Amino acid sequence: MLKILRAADYADMSRKAANLISAQIILKPDCVLGLATGSSPLGIYKKLIEWNAKGDLDFSAVRTVNLDEYLGLPKCSDQSYYYFMHSNLFDHVNLPAGATNLPNGRASNMADECARYDALIERLGGVDLQLLGIGHDGHIGFNEPCGEFPKGTHIVELAEETIEANKRFFASKEDVPRKAITMGIGTIMAARKVVLVASGVDKAEIVKKAFFGPITPEVPASILQLHPNAVVVADEAALSLV
Ligand code: GLP
Repeated sequence: MLKILRAADYADMSRKAANLISAQIILKPDCVLGLATGSSPLGIYKKLIEWNAKGDLDFSAVRTVNLDEYLGLPKCSDQSYYYFMHSNLFDHVNLPAGATNLPNGRASNMADECARYDALIERLGGVDLQLLGIGHDGHIGFNEPCGEFPKGTHIVELAEETIEANKRFFASKEDVPRKAITMGIGTIMAARKVVLVASGVDKAEIVKKAFFGPITPEVPASILQLHPNAVVVADEAALSLV
């Protein structure tokens, strides 16, 4: 059953979600964490870095798999999710080199890269805890609204709304990549625990649709209503319509 955890604001949401991740690492030090990018998880990553520095949280046996990556951006581009994860988390905690994984958006054969990523996740034993944000159109990872729930890692055309929302990070809208590689909904649903964070009044409508409306691939996050162990940590503003 989907659980909704109410938070006062962004800081409270971040602390609550970081506590859930921290509990996961304490209970299973060699867990596999599924990680997300975007503005929503930034406060969580700051907390995890702080607790790691204090000696309260140990990442030495943790392995990570990220949800997605833009197609075509070099790793060193400050807009790549590789760069985002290194600068906002990986470079600041004691995760060993080689313990972090992202799909490669510059692989020479993208079909092979999708298969490699799925095989990697399987080899790691699946995801223990998957962290998610939510796009304004209900996307999770880069699983955009479409006619079905894609199972495994695949290539997507980004929705116009997503390009519009993400252009704030780029010099211009034209610089936003049109395609991405993303973990599938099947893999996300197979995670043993899911924590989705949502903050701000601009997420209120999609939070209502996704978690209090019908389950449909036109709102990809709505499938989490069927996950046996999923928690939505949302602040008052994001919950203002429910
Ligand atoms: C991006 C990411 C998603 C993220 C979403 C929301 O497109 N691929 O993983 O959840 O946008 O981002 P934000 O948290 O900045 O609103």
